This record gives sequence, structure tokens and C-alpha cells, in this order.
Amino acid sequence: MTGPDKSLENYDQYISQLFAVEDPVLQATRATMQQEGLRPINVSATGGQLLYLLALMNGARRILEIGTLGGYSAIWLARALQADGALISLDIDAHHAAVARRNLAQAGLDTQVEVRVGPALATLTAMAQAREAPFDLVFIDADKDGYVAYLQQAVALVREGGLILADNTLPDEVLDANRDSGAKRYNAAVAAHPALVSSIVPVLRRQGFDGLTISIKRTPRT
Ligand SMILES: C[S@@+](CC[C@H](N)C(=O)[O-])C[C@H]1O[C@@H](n2cnc3c(N)ncnc32)[C@H](O)[C@@H]1O
Repeated sequence: MTGPDKSLENYDQYISQLFAVEDPVLQATRATMQQEGLRPINVSATGGQLLYLLALMNGARRILEIGTLGGYSAIWLARALQADGALISLDIDAHHAAVARRNLAQAGLDTQVEVRVGPALATLTAMAQAREAPFDLVFIDADKDGYVAYLQQAVALVREGGLILADNTLPDEVLDANRDSGAKRYNAAVAAHPALVSSIVPVLRRQGFDGLTISIKRTPRT
């Protein structure tokens, strides 16, 4: 007698069928992304549900996302916002931003979500200079080589007790001392940061798994 197929995909399906069933809005968002030629590099449904859960746990009123693509993860996150909450999402690509704005409008979230176009580091620097109100949660999901620089800005922009999340942080290189990557540098920077308490949660994907690095800002008392 053969046992069940223990592929990671089947475990992912088990979780998503229970907790992360996509509604028509999320399905339509992925369909629009495909029609518009965007690569399917958005978080999975189970990854989106995890973001939603973390944002609910942190009572988020203000969320910052770095890396919008077609707005898929922004929809999961924005659905966790309090009624008076806001999400600002940054992307370098004007076409991605236009697709995301359409998807967010379809989701009824266009009054709560603003998409800003430009290189994230420049936008973040401008936000810090403008002394924008602190964020409850920052989600980093853009170019991996920028992750460490985004972390420095995120620590400054997030409130005490707020969350900083970073996606795709368990690539193969983490197991190879001779290989470097932006995600690996990010994990090292997070681990060494005195104001962050962190860990990496493995997240199942359609093919294999990846990681979400979760940090809470907790400045040590002097
Ligand atoms: C993995 S996708 C984001 C996926 C999205 N968070 C989701 O799950 O639905 C990465 C996005 O980062 C954007 N990006 C890449 N480099 C960037 C940069 N330097 N500044 C801002 N955005 C950037 C890309 O245009 C792309 O849309």
C-alpha cells in the first residue's frame, strides 16, 4: 500500500484550501496581471494569508509595501487595515503601478491604497525627509540587492513594536558559504541589528518553499 504524496505542493494545497481560499477579486487580480504581461512573481495565496494574519495581529493602521507588481499582496495586506487605515506601495515600474491601481479599484481599496512610482530608495528617502507618520508594518518584496538599504529606511519609518517583513529570504545560497545574495545579506543585517528581534518562517510555494523574514522593532532600553 502506498502512502499519501508528501510533496510540498500538496501540503501547500492543504493549508490554502483551509485558510487561504482566493475570492473572485484575488482571482481576477491574477488574471489581469497575466493579461497585462506581468510575471507571476506575487506571493502565493498562503503567503498572502500569512501577511493578512500578521497585519491583523499588529492592528495595522499604516502599512508600507516595497514592491507592488499587480497589487496582489497589497490587497491581502490592505484587507487587514482598520477602517481609517492606509497602505502606501512603492514600485519602480509605471506599468506595474497602473495595473495595480486598476486591481485595487476592483477590490474597492483605491481610497485606502496609494501606489507611488519611482526607485524605492529615492521614494523612501523622500518619505523620511518629509517626516511621514510612522508605519505599523513594512513589507519588503522588491529587488533583492536593495533589501539591506530598504531595511535601514524601514527601521527608521516603522514605529516601536512595528513589524518589518521581507519575502524570498530562503534562497539556496543561504546553505552555501561560498555564495552571496541580497537575501543572505538582508538576513545577516537583520540578525545583527540591535533594535530588531527576528526569525525566518519557511513559506510553502507551488514549487518548493521560500522564506519570510519577520522582525519586530524593539529598541533596547539604555
Ligand atoms: C516580487 S515583485 C512584488 C510582488 C508583490 N509584492 C506581490 O506579492 O504581489 C517585485 C516588484 O518590485 C519592483 N521593483 C524592482 N526593483 C525596484 C526598485 N528599485 N524600486 C522599486 N520597485 C522595484 C518590480 O517592478 C516588481 O513589481
